[in-house]
Amino acid sequence: MTKSEYILTVAEYNSIEELNDDDAWLLTEARDVTQFAYAPYSNFHVGAIARLINGEIVTGTNQENASFPAGICAERVLLSSAASQHPAIAVETIAISYKNVKGKSDRPVSPCGICRQSLAEYQQRMQKPIRIILSGMEGKVQIIENAAQLLPLAFGSEDIINH
Ligand code: THU
Repeated sequence: MTKSEYILTVAEYNSIEELNDDDAWLLTEARDVTQFAYAPYSNFHVGAIARLINGEIVTGTNQENASFPAGICAERVLLSSAASQHPAIAVETIAISYKNVKGKSDRPVSPCGICRQSLAEYQQRMQKPIRIILSGMEGKVQIIENAAQLLPLAFGSEDIINH
């Protein structure tokens, strides 16, 4: 029997003021694009923005639906958009923020399970680690250098192809 441990490294900053200029700009934009979310059911407006390795910028916001399962998270809107508009250009960094209209928006929240699955496959597809910046509209900021760390033991394409 062997035991394995899987590592998730999170850098934590007290506020956006501690970030370098590029990261601070991306987070500011993520906060700004929350205004384009369509979230009349949850009142939880999520904004995501990616900087691609060629400098292009792509955004995504959550888009809900009266038939609740039809809604889609900001992160997957972003990745679908990046893949469609800039195919084969790797994502360098994604900033994700949110505005909780009925509550606080002052701490980082991290991507849901389905989005982690999508992030892991996008990263694997592009063969380049995706950096993730997480923060609310104010307060602490978390940075994860490799999105795949958010989903240890991920199910992936190689599991289908090799079985
Ligand atoms: N949501 C996202 O957009 N990203 C996440 O990672 C978590 C949740 C959205 C889905 C839904 O529209 C609202 O936030 C509340 O769950």
